[in-house]
Amino acid sequence: MDMPRYERIWMTVGMGSLALFLIILGVLSFGMGLHPPDSKEKTTVPENVDQHPPFDKPGVYKVGPNEYEVIMTSFVFSYEPREIRIPKGAKVHFKVTSKDVVHGIYVPNTNVNLMLVPGHVTEYTYTFDETGEHLFLCHEYCGTGHQLMQGRIIVYDPENTTS
Ligand code: CUA
Repeated sequence: MDMPRYERIWMTVGMGSLALFLIILGVLSFGMGLHPPDSKEKTTVPENVDQHPPFDKPGVYKVGPNEYEVIMTSFVFSYEPREIRIPKGAKVHFKVTSKDVVHGIYVPNTNVNLMLVPGHVTEYTYTFDETGEHLFLCHEYCGTGHQLMQGRIIVYDPENTTS
């Protein structure tokens, strides 16, 4: 095909950058597992989610050495549990759903940023490496009390018995 030189150069640049972006996308999503928080698992009865396992017993459960599962429900305008206490370095598997409308859970300065949809279970794992207190809040507008919807994650030092 007969093409002017500049056209060929620009086509090469265009195709090259497209290929580069696709490679970056592929590496991030398949290699590094970066993807939007997903809702693979469906709960059976979204209307009465708090009567069905595991959401009939929300709480913080130890599932391994310094590994915890947080079973949590969200609803207008709070969370159950609202306060999570875990030792430093704990790997926490969040399993969260909503009992009514779409809510969110966002922990500032971490990668915990989830959308909670009725009828779905949102799962995410995060390791809390530093001691301290994290606020978590709802970041999906859910009604008149939206700005009140929050809780705390307290990461304590297991060596320090006074905390
Ligand atoms: Cu729940 Cu905003």
